Amino acid sequence: MGVHSGIRKHATHCGYLLIMVFALFSFAATGQTPQTPQAPSPIKLMPMPATVTPTAGRLLVPQTFSVGIAGYNEPRLERAAQRFLRDLSRQTGYFLSERLADASRATLTIHADHGGEPVQDLGADESYVLEVSSAGAKLAAPNPLGIMHGLQTFLQLVEVTPEGYAAPAIHVEDTPRFPWRGLSIDVSRHFISMEVLQRNVDAMAAAKLNVLHLHLSDDQGFRLESKEYPKLQELGSDGMYYRQSEMRELIAYASDRGIRIVPEFDMPGHSTAWFVGYPDLSSAAGPYQIERRWGIFDPAMDPTRESTYKFLDKFIAEMASIFPDRYFHIGGDEVNGKQWDANPKISEFKQAHNLKNNQELQQYFTVRIEKIVSKHHKSMVGWDEILTPGMPKDIVIQSWRGQESLAEAARQGYRGILSSGYYLDAIQPAEQHYLVDPVSGAGATLTAEQQKLILGGEACMWEEFASDESIESRIWPRAAAVAERLWSPQQLQDVNSMYRRLAAFSARLEQLGLTHRSSSEVMLARIAGTDDIAALQVLARAVQPASLTIRETEAQKAGGIQTSDVPLNRMVDAISPESEAARKFSSAVDLFIASKFQDTTVESYIRQKLQEWRDNDSALQSLLQNSFLLKEVAPVSQNLASLGVAGAQALDYIDAHQAAPAAWKLQQVAMIQQVAKPTADLVLAVAPAVQKLVEASSAAVVAP
Ligand code: ACM
Repeated sequence: MGVHSGIRKHATHCGYLLIMVFALFSFAATGQTPQTPQAPSPIKLMPMPATVTPTAGRLLVPQTFSVGIAGYNEPRLERAAQRFLRDLSRQTGYFLSERLADASRATLTIHADHGGEPVQDLGADESYVLEVSSAGAKLAAPNPLGIMHGLQTFLQLVEVTPEGYAAPAIHVEDTPRFPWRGLSIDVSRHFISMEVLQRNVDAMAAAKLNVLHLHLSDDQGFRLESKEYPKLQELGSDGMYYRQSEMRELIAYASDRGIRIVPEFDMPGHSTAWFVGYPDLSSAAGPYQIERRWGIFDPAMDPTRESTYKFLDKFIAEMASIFPDRYFHIGGDEVNGKQWDANPKISEFKQAHNLKNNQELQQYFTVRIEKIVSKHHKSMVGWDEILTPGMPKDIVIQSWRGQESLAEAARQGYRGILSSGYYLDAIQPAEQHYLVDPVSGAGATLTAEQQKLILGGEACMWEEFASDESIESRIWPRAAAVAERLWSPQQLQDVNSMYRRLAAFSARLEQLGLTHRSSSEVMLARIAGTDDIAALQVLARAVQPASLTIRETEAQKAGGIQTSDVPLNRMVDAISPESEAARKFSSAVDLFIASKFQDTTVESYIRQKLQEWRDNDSALQSLLQNSFLLKEVAPVSQNLASLGVAGAQALDYIDAHQAAPAAWKLQQVAMIQQVAKPTADLVLAVAPAVQKLVEASSAAVVAP
């Protein structure tokens, strides 16, 4: 076959086919035909491929469905095909044979031109072409990476139909927009088990993400075994760390799925956990303890002593031998310099070396570390702060501070990846992340040459307020919105289409074994002490966690008690970061207003929800009284009831064709704004839509 030589790296050049994609998928953005909340979507691919051309017919996917490999073959490709069959089994409930079929007779034929590199390169060709017709399916790619992506696309095409499972006939030519599409997971603030990391890798493969960045050390924990320096994990981890053998298994697991693993060991700051076992590395006398609080702390490595570099040389050599990836992340963020200022020897060193301030001292450190990293055949990655004049152009800057610093790095000729705007722990709607583009904002001011230095981005999951049981719900499905931004054509901006496809993607993740939705039910039942949690779920679906900033501020107000020891077992930890129910309710209210209050189907949906909320508070009382963990949500439940009452009254005015009195409206809006404030770190996500309804009810009356 070998049909992909025509695919170019940057999908934005594929003008003609793109037009077809946008004609197909952007109808919801026109605003002329508002969709009902349950409207079906045409094709639920995520990330949307570079080009999609629907053709006539469909391919039935029966229990006899088979896969055969033609062309190049290797064990990794066979494992990918078998995994595909296993996933398809999960998706259909069919017992599919995992034995690969003769390519000439298989329903789906796979053809790779050649193998991949032994260690996956940044910028490796990930393109593929997928052709589905009523006669069968053909998937072709230059190497196994494209095949793996194409198999994921096929899985997403399979849908239930009245006649059985089927995939629509289609021609897909696909290639990512950016070569670095990452997810960063902090395993220091709270330890994340290997099992959960593996599930995240499965989800990443489904979203076509290709870099798992592990933040392996910070003030709160050192999480990987070192044989050179065993006190790092022995004293710096509370016993919660990965053995090297486990990490090697995860690397192989990820590599099998086309995912690179980039390790980060944060230095010279964010490093208290190192100093518990090795206080001599630090800039002040010990002893040290593992940090339990959140924030920026004073301990920092001593950049002036040769012993620091000797230690790090050996340490990096050891770690470089575990992680095959070319890229090695040294952190470099948020050094407050207080230990440096307080140490007279460090001040003397700065004078002797003509280092004017701590920034220059950190630059001195970073330059030395870069030499060590490159000596061990790695390219250094670091946060914005590492950008240092004269550094080799081989380094990569990861921007957490904003698009401007990424643009500045590019102007100086450095490659970069964007994470500002993609912080999943900040608890923002998927839409907000989705609309951040690596080359928008300051990035848009770059020349085409400079823009090529922007390699992509990474969604970041910091773990202050997440744990093994809640991390999946914090990451998924929202990370898939970032994945689409990094994979799909830049012009794809239709938020409604994104949310429709994200919902389908989210459901599929559960079939793959992710627990981002099911964990919520398990946690709520634990909090309530019973499985009979219907009323609690009504409340859970109407609220969202308050933003990270609010949660931190509230904790400080309560005496700064938030530490890594505080259990994450409250309602706020159990619920989804983004309320699907609130989004549906809000779009129903918009539709109802747009229909000039004529759409009775939408109205009855709205009324049913409002009544449910109004009546839920009394239904919830016995649960609220039964558990100490639910006491704090009692006022939230009352507030939801108040919203239900206000919204139902608004509907009554509308139905009576009577403008709601101005005084009533003012009173209700004041009440809504009051109840919309965070309580128990929860925000009533449905409040703004109720307010809209209240305001609309006092506006012009539509004649009967
Ligand atoms: C960071 O958020 N300090 C990387």
